Amino acid sequence: MAVPRTAPILVASNRGPVSYTLGEDGSLTARRGGGGLVSGLSAIGPDAGAVWVCAALGEGDREAARRAGASHLNPGDTGGQQVRMLDIAPDVFAAAYNGVANSVLWFVHHLLYQTPVEPVFDAEFAEQWAAYESYNAAFADALAQEAVDDAVVLVQDYHLALVPAMLRERRPDLRIGHFSHTPWAPPDYYRLLPDDVAAAVLRGILGGDRAAFLTERWATAFADCCAAVLGAEIVRAGDGEGGGGVATAVRFEGRETRLGVHGLGADADFLRERSRRPDVDERLSALRAQIGPGRKSIVRVDRTELSKNIVRGLLAYRRLLETRPEWRERVVHVAFAYPSRQDLAVYRDYTERVRRIADEINDEYGTDGWTPVALHVKDDFARSLAAYRLADVALVNPIRDGMNLVAKEVPVVSERGCALVLSREAGAYAELGEDALVVNPYDVEGTARALHEALRMSDGERADRTKRLAAAATALPPQAWFLAQLRAL
Ligand code: F6P
Repeated sequence: MAVPRTAPILVASNRGPVSYTLGEDGSLTARRGGGGLVSGLSAIGPDAGAVWVCAALGEGDREAARRAGASHLNPGDTGGQQVRMLDIAPDVFAAAYNGVANSVLWFVHHLLYQTPVEPVFDAEFAEQWAAYESYNAAFADALAQEAVDDAVVLVQDYHLALVPAMLRERRPDLRIGHFSHTPWAPPDYYRLLPDDVAAAVLRGILGGDRAAFLTERWATAFADCCAAVLGAEIVRAGDGEGGGGVATAVRFEGRETRLGVHGLGADADFLRERSRRPDVDERLSALRAQIGPGRKSIVRVDRTELSKNIVRGLLAYRRLLETRPEWRERVVHVAFAYPSRQDLAVYRDYTERVRRIADEINDEYGTDGWTPVALHVKDDFARSLAAYRLADVALVNPIRDGMNLVAKEVPVVSERGCALVLSREAGAYAELGEDALVVNPYDVEGTARALHEALRMSDGERADRTKRLAAAATALPPQAWFLAQLRAL
């Protein structure tokens, strides 16, 4: 059955706003999707008339997609949002999502290939790349079917880099934007990719009218890659007037793709309301009991994933206990490390290392009445909010991160003020750097020192900094972030 062209605004992303689990009796239970992209896009709301096209991620999703057929999911499951979930063949999805997106593109943009994790571009990768192309084509087909004339389409992230060009071929009337939620690799690193893949990803995004990023730094790296790999021309602010400012567009093969920067901020209204609900209060009491009276807490909340640098964070905490014995028994590191992408061995192994090092620290330093690391691995949003409320210190030390919304959410929710230890390689550093304690994520010793400084910061200074951090963190809330992209197209 052909889908009527009804959508004036479309959003496309791998992960959608909802995911399903399939019960043994065939029942489907819907649950809100996680991650920064979903948090940002969820602000679209049902009234915008937008259709959100996403992929079925697991068996429950596939069943829901099959039941919906070519129609949208039951709006009761999606908060009223019109969602079309694509039932992509499991082997194609696995090769595109696990093989290309999360093993290769994710590693390139986060500079994660370091011995012993090296890139492998063999026959299996060639097959995975073919799957990635067909997975992107499935999105382009669905978007082309649903979009009304001159509709606006916002394509999200590295999973769907080929969609803008594919969609332009099918529907030249559309206005197409691509948004990257990841960092972008600098050219010398980007060129680890096979030449044809490196070029295809750039050509794919340049098929749109606009390519947008979370920070200026990632936009510049993208433009530099276009110049280095494709020989494209970079248009800069002030060009023609002897300028040479920031890159504003890329010209390639007779077309111009504008560049944009939209630093997604935290949703203060939602967070403040959500973090005061009874389920969060309940978890707050449990966490307080776990930490123990009179002790300080260092909190981190991450998906367990290599770019988040959780292991070095734990090593820095261990170093703190070693070099500053005055903190023993007086602080607990509350680490939420939620397993992610566990189909891939490299992510599973990392999760194991995180557990092992947390256990080692507890064995080395723990006493009868004190467990130095409280590691939680079961994803629980209400508990994360409770931890934001009580944190004395938040540790956000990624090797590289598109933005990192945790750094922005903590100051908004914090009750008594929270010192932020922040990696200079997180996108959030551009907006929060001044009031955070900034660290080089590879420098364990420096991170231990920053934790010490954060723990001994006076109450007054912590509260002042938190106020300024919260203001900077909420400058562009999700709804404004989304509207800014629409307007720019
Ligand atoms: O940074 C890219 C991103 O899409 C984030 O927006 C999101 O938090 C994360 O990756 C989700 O990854 P996955 O969908 O693989 O769990």
